[in-house]
Amino acid sequence: MHIIYPGSFDPVTLGHIDIIERASKLFDTVTVAVLINQSKRCLFTIDERMELLRQSLKDYDNIYVDSFSGLLIDYLKKRDVSLILRGLRAVSDYENELQLALANRSQNNDIETVFLVASPEYSFLSSSLIREIASFHGDVSKFVPEVVEKALKLKYEEG
Ligand code: COA
Repeated sequence: MHIIYPGSFDPVTLGHIDIIERASKLFDTVTVAVLINQSKRCLFTIDERMELLRQSLKDYDNIYVDSFSGLLIDYLKKRDVSLILRGLRAVSDYENELQLALANRSQNNDIETVFLVASPEYSFLSSSLIREIASFHGDVSKFVPEVVEKALKLKYEEG
């Protein structure tokens, strides 16, 4: 079975990697689908976000990286996939995730959302938290893959 893990990944964190790695043991293939989001101002371009994911996941042969724009259910249809993967970090994620899962299923009854609970060491992480620490030149090495740490340093040096 093939599952799609959608998100902004601006940038990918070890919290995302934890979810993706665990899913890769449960499903035949996992596609990480990066949202081309016009309404959200991103630090990394779509190409940069995809490249950071590719480099962080290069050791796995059943994990792929792709991008999409528009509605998630249209992308799933195009890819002929009916499973969405999402991570749950805390109870506060539940409300939003419930809304997303129900909204997606209301548009296509064949779509199922599968949730994996985030490992506790990453349950407080978010991409904006990482961006904030990195913007003040703080240490993010425990929270992101090495390639992301380097990319953040470059971004914030560029100023
Ligand atoms: N580890 C670390 N951080 C995590 C995480 C994890 N396991 N899971 C989520 N997060 C963080 C992300 O880093 C991000 O942090 P930020 O807001 O500080 O940048 C935040 O949680 C939101 O994560 P993300 O999963 O990327 O959600 P999103 O809101 O950017 O995108 C989509 C969610 C892509 C699934 C949704 O917007 C979508 O489907 N969009 C397409 C349009 C559509 O179909 N809309 C209708 C939906 S019914």
